[in-house]
Amino acid sequence: MHAVVVVESCFGNTSKVAEAIVEGLRSTGAEVETFAAGSAPHRLSADLVLVGAPTHSMGLPTSATRSQAVQKGGTAVASGVREWIDHVETLDGRVVAFATTTGGFLAGSASKAIVKALKRRRIPAERGTDFTVKGTPGPVADGELDRAREWARTLHA
Ligand SMILES: Cc1cc2nc3c(=O)[nH]c(=O)nc-3n(C[C@H](O)[C@H](O)[C@H](O)COP(=O)(O)O)c2cc1C
Repeated sequence: MHAVVVVESCFGNTSKVAEAIVEGLRSTGAEVETFAAGSAPHRLSADLVLVGAPTHSMGLPTSATRSQAVQKGGTAVASGVREWIDHVETLDGRVVAFATTTGGFLAGSASKAIVKALKRRRIPAERGTDFTVKGTPGPVADGELDRAREWARTLHA
């Protein structure tokens, strides 16, 4: 199986989750490539394409929420998953979204927003799962990286 992971991260937590997902997929024998959303190809063909982002203002990061993240000590991200979806040309394969959130009833979810944004581009995608971080800068909550590895193994059909 050939899998591609496209990820955006301001504080590094979603990247850590993506790394755990890559480890889980590789443990099943999958070949995996990872791209930061800002440098991901606009034409992708793979058995599995995983798209992940941090939840900002209950959805996908925007340039405004990324600036707020920088003010809180995050890394500047010029272009992320939102922009990648806007410019994607072809996306062949099973597409599954994941996200990080601080959890709770009003957290919202970037994975939900990813599925919606892809749908607008007529690209079918499934909502995968969300992983919890302990507050805006993180870290990833206890056990979540193990859960990400396990979840990734279930994706190897
Ligand atoms: C501007 C901003 C808005 C945020 N809004 C939400 C939100 O609506 N719901 C939520 O669960 N987390 C929210 N967060 C917390 C992020 O989800 C958290 O910083 C992120 O998951 C960390 O991932 P990263 O390290 O990959 O950037 C927000 C963070 C920032 C900077």
